[in-house]
Amino acid sequence: MFQSSFGFRNVMGPSYSFVFFLLAMLVCGSLSDSEPDVTENSRQKRLFSLFNIVKFKNKGCTSVGSTNMGGTCLTSTECTSQGGASSGNCAAGFGVCCIFSLSGSCGSGQTVSQNCTYIRNSGFPSADTTASETCTYNFNRICDNLCQIRLDFDSLTSQASATGSCGTEADAITVSSPFSSSSNAFPPTVCGTLTGQHMYLETGTTGNAGTLSFAKGTGAGNRSYQIKVTYFTCDSLAKAPAGCTQYFTGIRGSFQSYNHAGGQLLQSMDYSNCFRQEEGYCQLQIRESLSTTPDAFLVSAPTTKAMTACADLSFITFSTPTLGAFCGGVLNSVNEHIIPGVLTSSPGSNFQVGLNTLAADLTDLIGFNLNYNQVPCA
Ligand SMILES: *[C@@H]1O[C@H](CO)[C@@H](O)[C@H](O)[C@H]1NC(C)=O
Ligand SMILES: *[C@@H]1O[C@H](CO)[C@@H](O)[C@H](O)[C@H]1NC(C)=O
Repeated sequence: MFQSSFGFRNVMGPSYSFVFFLLAMLVCGSLSDSEPDVTENSRQKRLFSLFNIVKFKNKGCTSVGSTNMGGTCLTSTECTSQGGASSGNCAAGFGVCCIFSLSGSCGSGQTVSQNCTYIRNSGFPSADTTASETCTYNFNRICDNLCQIRLDFDSLTSQASATGSCGTEADAITVSSPFSSSSNAFPPTVCGTLTGQHMYLETGTTGNAGTLSFAKGTGAGNRSYQIKVTYFTCDSLAKAPAGCTQYFTGIRGSFQSYNHAGGQLLQSMDYSNCFRQEEGYCQLQIRESLSTTPDAFLVSAPTTKAMTACADLSFITFSTPTLGAFCGGVLNSVNEHIIPGVLTSSPGSNFQVGLNTLAADLTDLIGFNLNYNQVPCA
């Protein structure tokens, strides 16, 4: 986290003031809320009565206008020198909300070196129709004590195949980092329509914090994306628990398998959706969304009933009360039921829903769109 400060010197009265110095300090981690957002340095004021030193926290801020993008509060000079674009004021008017984005062409890799950077396809918001090229984004280790990066797919349309595979003709969006050399330590490779979805990536402790590779397949089609990159230090409260690819907070909401909006379940998924257990809540419930297009639950054959015996099939996992597998075309804890039901986790179990899919043709399988809610402790 940066802290900015600048001073201004009043020589001929308040109408004559200018920024006379600038100071940036690289301090990572959560900002202490006990310190005020904007401070006037009174010690400096006593020493140099002509100077006022104003210091403010480089907090997150929101852009003006309809786009509602996240930025960082910096001085206008800092924003320009770091390659950002200012959008509105912050810190009682001493700072600007600085928005960082990358939208270069894919020839050579691009580097993210600011918290809260937006990665966009070249030409965004227009789609890019180039096939067979790979765009690589490197995530700089912007400070010490980094643990995770969250990628928010604010808008993402890419090409998926009708069998649910990513790569070759379809696109392939893959993340990696020095955290591990094992590919299953990371979120799975995804493709298709991912707007509104997110993923967490572990950064490891040395070297580059990670890489996102967007490999455009050989197939013709539109590719369009705006992905927000947020860094989290190890002590951040917003960090996801280890092993969680998606992380949801709040007592209710909905969540989808990757590319559910595209209507096709993806192959080779193996990840966890985790839910922060809110204070006073003891169990998690999940059920199919009432929205039926695309189908709210269709992960394997048979397509018209619930299945709790899922060997050699794609399935979700949920603890009810032991870790059970659920598959078929209806979500219900009762085998062969044809009407969707509510699944309630057993007290004390993790608030997690896993997804495992086969590395095989998944044509006509849609995935899931589930609602969740937390149940108050008895
Ligand atoms: C990045 O920005 C987010 C949102 O403003 C903030 O919660 C997080 O702590 C910041 N990360 C770092 C490493 O400063
Ligand atoms: C790309 O999008 C444009 C505008 O929505 C559409 O007219 C065009 O057919 C699309 N191209 C492909 C290859 O899907």
